Amino acid sequence: MTGYAKLCSSDDVPDGEMRSFDPGDNKILVVNLGGKFYAIDAICNHMGGKLVDGKLKDNIVICPRHKCEYDVTSGKIKKKAGFFVQAFSGKCNDQKSYATKVEGGKVYVDI
Ligand code: FES
Repeated sequence: MTGYAKLCSSDDVPDGEMRSFDPGDNKILVVNLGGKFYAIDAICNHMGGKLVDGKLKDNIVICPRHKCEYDVTSGKIKKKAGFFVQAFSGKCNDQKSYATKVEGGKVYVDI
């Protein structure tokens, strides 16, 4: 079933920070950029790195495992892991992204 699900309070994710939430079977990373909220899969599609443990630089989250970089506003991959890492462990791809909306101080994600 799909549709908007309440994920957290907007106060749970301060401006310029990210948090991971586990609604149902999903693990979703929520990022607050200047009061706009973005959501992508929280687990790196490459080899399962927890993006919430990585670094956030503006709209780019850097996976803590092999340093793939993802644009949190779209899920698009911006920098792949090194050639040898991908040769032995598989390709890095885009992260799934989710539409978000804020109503009544709550963040909703279309999952
Ligand atoms: S697990 Fe994220 S870059 Fe490899």
